[in-house]
Amino acid sequence: MLRLGLGLLAVVSVCVVTVESRCSRGCDLALASYYVWDGSNVSFIGEVMNATFAEIASYNPKDVPNQNYVQAGVRINVPFRCDCINNEFLGRMVSYSVRSGDTYERIATLYYSNLTTAAWVQKFNSYGASSIPDNARLNVTVNCSCGNSTVSEDYGLFITYPLRTGETLESVASAANLSTDLVRSYNRNANSSAGSGLVYIPGKDKNGNYPSLKSSTGLSGGVIAGISIAGVAGALILAVCIYFGIYKKKKGEDKLLPSATEDHLLQGAGGTSPSTDSTGIPPGASPGITGLTVDKSLEFSYEELSLATDNFNIANKIGQGGFGSVYYAELRGEKAAIKKMDMQASKEFLAELKVLTHVHHLNLVRLIGYCVEGSLCLVYEYIENGNLSQHLRGSGREALPWSTRVQIALDSARGLEYIHEHTVPVYIHRDIKPANILIDKNFHGKVADFGLTKLTDIGSTSLPTRLVGTFGYMSPEYAQYGDVSPKLDVYAFGVVLYELISAKEAIVKPTDSMADSKGLVGLFEEVLSQPDPIEDLTKLIDPRLGDGYPLDSVLKMAQLAKACTQENPQIRPSMRSIVVALMTLSSSTDLWDVDSFYKNQALVNLMSGR
Ligand SMILES: Nc1ncnc2c1ncn2[C@@H]1O[C@H](COP(=O)(O)OP(=O)(O)OP(=O)(O)O)[C@@H](O)[C@H]1O
Ligand SMILES: *[C@@H]1O[C@H](CO)[C@@H](O)[C@H](O)[C@H]1NC(C)=O
Ligand SMILES: *[C@@H]1O[C@H](CO)[C@@H](O)[C@H](O)[C@H]1NC(C)=O
Ligand SMILES: *[C@@H]1O[C@H](CO)[C@@H](O)[C@H](O)[C@H]1NC(C)=O
Repeated sequence: MLRLGLGLLAVVSVCVVTVESRCSRGCDLALASYYVWDGSNVSFIGEVMNATFAEIASYNPKDVPNQNYVQAGVRINVPFRCDCINNEFLGRMVSYSVRSGDTYERIATLYYSNLTTAAWVQKFNSYGASSIPDNARLNVTVNCSCGNSTVSEDYGLFITYPLRTGETLESVASAANLSTDLVRSYNRNANSSAGSGLVYIPGKDKNGNYPSLKSSTGLSGGVIAGISIAGVAGALILAVCIYFGIYKKKKGEDKLLPSATEDHLLQGAGGTSPSTDSTGIPPGASPGITGLTVDKSLEFSYEELSLATDNFNIANKIGQGGFGSVYYAELRGEKAAIKKMDMQASKEFLAELKVLTHVHHLNLVRLIGYCVEGSLCLVYEYIENGNLSQHLRGSGREALPWSTRVQIALDSARGLEYIHEHTVPVYIHRDIKPANILIDKNFHGKVADFGLTKLTDIGSTSLPTRLVGTFGYMSPEYAQYGDVSPKLDVYAFGVVLYELISAKEAIVKPTDSMADSKGLVGLFEEVLSQPDPIEDLTKLIDPRLGDGYPLDSVLKMAQLAKACTQENPQIRPSMRSIVVALMTLSSSTDLWDVDSFYKNQALVNLMSGR
């Protein structure tokens, strides 16, 4: 043990130096100079950069007058958040949906207009250069800058600018009316002959002014920084270090997880294509409507839903929730899940439902429509693979591999981030738990039931009064005082993370030796507050994982869960920083699926000083 401790110390001190020499925090805003190529358009640029039209337009009022027009050959500035990734470099990882025939080269040099390079894209994805599957999703990383106080305090917003043939640092500086020396001092490593490569030049805000360094906020330091502040012992840093040590050594052959899921990317209204093996349009459906995605079909007749579920036959029942039962249905040729609730929708809730049908995100279970004749029925897209609780604890299911657990955590975090920050109005879920995280056929997670708590807010009188939320997931401030904020979802999400690690229920049932049942949060906290939590932590890990997990990744997730379940809601991380933390975790986790045994062994050796 002592030897191990000394080993730890030595590595920690080495590591801290390297971590500090890179980045510790990002900033809320950077700009990407996108050279508009022939055949591209604003919606495409928005899609690949995960930016909305409104965001793009606000920085390019002249060049992007409307959604349908942008001239090829100009550059437009696309705003994006600049994160400190892995404490290593400043960049933004966006998600890109592969189109058939894509290569890393094409993605970097065409679709991302040289804002990144093929090698830099490939580094964060597991697929070989010639084996990118169609419909995969890739992490695409675009570097950025947040400024440099030793150069100047006057500039706090930076454009990531790919030089084109014929352009030099000097020509770009002079075109922007900035001194060459200034621009050069921000780009010490740039090759002066240029014509290619990225340079960073000060950019103007929406009002056409250069924001100063002070006025720009450095909020997105990421949870990695947050975690260390939250009092995590050297062990975490150590684990990160060891991890990156191994990661670096493996370099070329690294196989990183293809961390799918799109950030803030809205699926268009026609997101689901109507299936072709349609079982026919039931009587009463409007002619010409074949899919479930047409706006007009949002309201269903009770008759149609009843028909689709064989009169809400028990044989079609796939779930039971606190509000009602869930049935499988084939509706207009598509699979759907219909939730039948024993209540009537108030007028206000009906209005709310209409809003909810317009919230689309890959990591949210889509509400397709509803029926308000008699009982209230909600029609959802059908998610093939059950819920997370079943996967963690149900019989007859294979254990989820660690990388899948990380992925599901990331997916659900993105869904939550979306409703917390990007919908109008914003939503607080209030009932996050594994039963509300559904798993699709590709083992991605989708958050179900968001927005439903509005039912209680709006105060439908026929609603059975029950405290929204589920015991074991309720944050202390909510359980005690009914305080509602997004941080109560963060708390519940933290509990879900602990469940992903341990496969235990939020309330651990007492064994004979234990008199009281115990909360999972308390159980982990006890272990994590030990000076050397590794040994006891290992005992909490889901035995079904066997040796198939990277200890440091588990430890990081446990620390993240601990940060999420802190008593004080204000110091819990936001879903946004949780997404960043899980992204880095996911991009380094899949390593272990390749030859986890050897790597686990390497880690053990390293830690024991062998
Ligand atoms: N869209 C869907 N596709 C497939 N299965 C679903 C879908 N929606 C719900 N289910 C299944 O039905 C179960 C019950 O769902 P529901 O959301 O009603 O209840 P819950 O989340 O368990 O409880 P509560 O109502 O308290 O939130 C889910 O856990 C899931 O297994
Ligand atoms: C926008 O550009 C993409 C990429 O070239 C193309 O696939 C898409 O069809 C274009 N959309 C429109 C509306 O022109
Ligand atoms: C990216 O750079 C390559 C090589 O300089 C160039 O051929 C290509 O046209 C550039 N792509 C775009 C979209 O400008
Ligand atoms: C982004 O930054 C990293 C770290 O500085 C660097 O290694 C990488 O080459 C950069 N990527 C691009 C496309 O310039």
